Amino acid sequence: MKILVIGTGAREHAIIHSLHRETASGAAAHELHAAPGNPGIAGLATWHTVDPLDGTAVAALAEEVGAELVVVGPEAPLVAGVADSVRAAGVPVFGPSGEAARLEGSKSFAKEVMAAAGVPTAMAHVCTDATEVAAALDAFGPPYVVKDDGLAAGKGVVVTDDREAALAHGEACLSHENGRVVVEEYLDGPEVSLFCVCDGVTVVPLVPAQDFKRVGNDDEGPNTGGMGAYTPLGWAPAGLVDEVVSRVAQPTIDEMARRGTPFSGVLYVGLALTSRGTRVVEFNARFGDPETQSVLARLMTPLSEVMLAAARGRLAELEPLRWRPEASVTVVVASEGYPELARSGDPITGIEDAESLPGVHVLHAGTGLSTADELVSAGGRVLSVVALGTDLADARRRAYEGVAKIGLKGSHHRTDIALRAERGEVTVP
Ligand code: AMP
Ligand code: GLY
Repeated sequence: MKILVIGTGAREHAIIHSLHRETASGAAAHELHAAPGNPGIAGLATWHTVDPLDGTAVAALAEEVGAELVVVGPEAPLVAGVADSVRAAGVPVFGPSGEAARLEGSKSFAKEVMAAAGVPTAMAHVCTDATEVAAALDAFGPPYVVKDDGLAAGKGVVVTDDREAALAHGEACLSHENGRVVVEEYLDGPEVSLFCVCDGVTVVPLVPAQDFKRVGNDDEGPNTGGMGAYTPLGWAPAGLVDEVVSRVAQPTIDEMARRGTPFSGVLYVGLALTSRGTRVVEFNARFGDPETQSVLARLMTPLSEVMLAAARGRLAELEPLRWRPEASVTVVVASEGYPELARSGDPITGIEDAESLPGVHVLHAGTGLSTADELVSAGGRVLSVVALGTDLADARRRAYEGVAKIGLKGSHHRTDIALRAERGEVTVP
């Protein structure tokens, strides 16, 4: 199958890596195309230049390469309606319409849909001025949770005990054009990411994973796009996935269909397992990064079949998904200064050495080529080192052996990805 993947991150590299593996194993013969891609992706797919936010240009590229499936990875093109343009050109596309992607693009819209569908989530107030923000903060009390209503690349949420800081973030969000702020109740308990593949009607859950959003060990420091992930979650209650499908994903998909804006692609359900039960923290309209790197490493069913079935509205016909029993740990290597200011242009070494370790592969995100054609850093999150192992301890050990082989001046990573889970210290209140 000819497949075009839109995006530049380690998530898109993970998707291409899975599709390439199907071809390498002889299970399929794909012709892979990617845009804008990155140097890691370029080794596995034909690399094209396109503005990922320009639906007309993406649809034209899809027709030019004869794509039989287009996969739109990141949220910004989805919210901009790029999947609509591709679909209008008659090419099957994995990813929601711009209308359906509002589940991620507007937190207040997501709250409205959750309320209509009876989905359990944090209580929230949508505020349009500073007085309302202050009143909402005092109504809920600390810890304060303040969210920009719109897309903010993981930087729109502040969780703090400091009322002044909470107010200041609210005011900063309000200062954008049509700025709106969501102030909500604090949710205690461990977080889980569950990706639900949807075709507008049917929901097929993948395996749950956990993400590490803060930059430092022990969840210290500012939020990032995600510093690591692992699966499976041995500590999660039995029946969690079924509960989330029946109480969250299916009612949401049914409500979106009822509104005439059916959701297809990945509904990423971000959950907190709180003392008062399972609650939705957020919806995203795409695969999560870095959880995807670990989840896809365990998927044995060909990913192309899953995505094509979703794009064609045929998920109900899909055989049950098959998974490797191994554990998978992903550690993100970030450049100096991330997430405040990311240093770029430093040479990267050791990827081949890391990949020579059993069960380890390395995915690119913020990488580029220098004028001398040398691999250099070109962004905040530079690489994802992904390892499979017999259990979490084994996968962790391998992932960190891989990280140790990588050379990048000033780079940093968390050393505690999956550590508390390995030690059996994650508990649901
Ligand atoms: P979001 O962009 O909505 O995913 O939020 C980013 C992160 O902020 C989440 O992964 C949580 O760690 C934290 N967060 C968001 N909402 C809440 C909440 N209501 N209670 C506690 N933490 C939250
Ligand atoms: N892993 C968090 C995200 O993709 O938004």
